[in-house]
Amino acid sequence: MNNIIKSHFIHPQNLGKIKKPTHTSKFKSGFCGDMVEVYAVIENDKIIDIKYNVFGCYAVIATSSVLSEWAKNKSLEDVRNITYEETLNLLGGDIDPEKEQCVKTAMNAFKSL
Ligand code: FES
Repeated sequence: MNNIIKSHFIHPQNLGKIKKPTHTSKFKSGFCGDMVEVYAVIENDKIIDIKYNVFGCYAVIATSSVLSEWAKNKSLEDVRNITYEETLNLLGGDIDPEKEQCVKTAMNAFKSL
């Protein structure tokens, strides 16, 4: 586990729920059943606030955290277009191959906004 992943797993950023989101999404892994829920406030096509609840392993927690930081001030289109490679770069470029599905679970939750 690299330092970026470790840091976001131990101290997840933007964790929690937004009281009055304009957009929400939910994605459940077909592999393990773990789940991410995302809440966002979007104004003038810009994400001005974003939070999530995550139920799962270190990789899905760390990925949700890095994506929540990255997504602030982005457009919905930017978030929907993010790729696996870009998400992996936000995580420092490497992850245990068996955790690929976990990264994709978090990524798909954000892309579903
Ligand atoms: Fe379920 Fe990682 S084991 S998301």
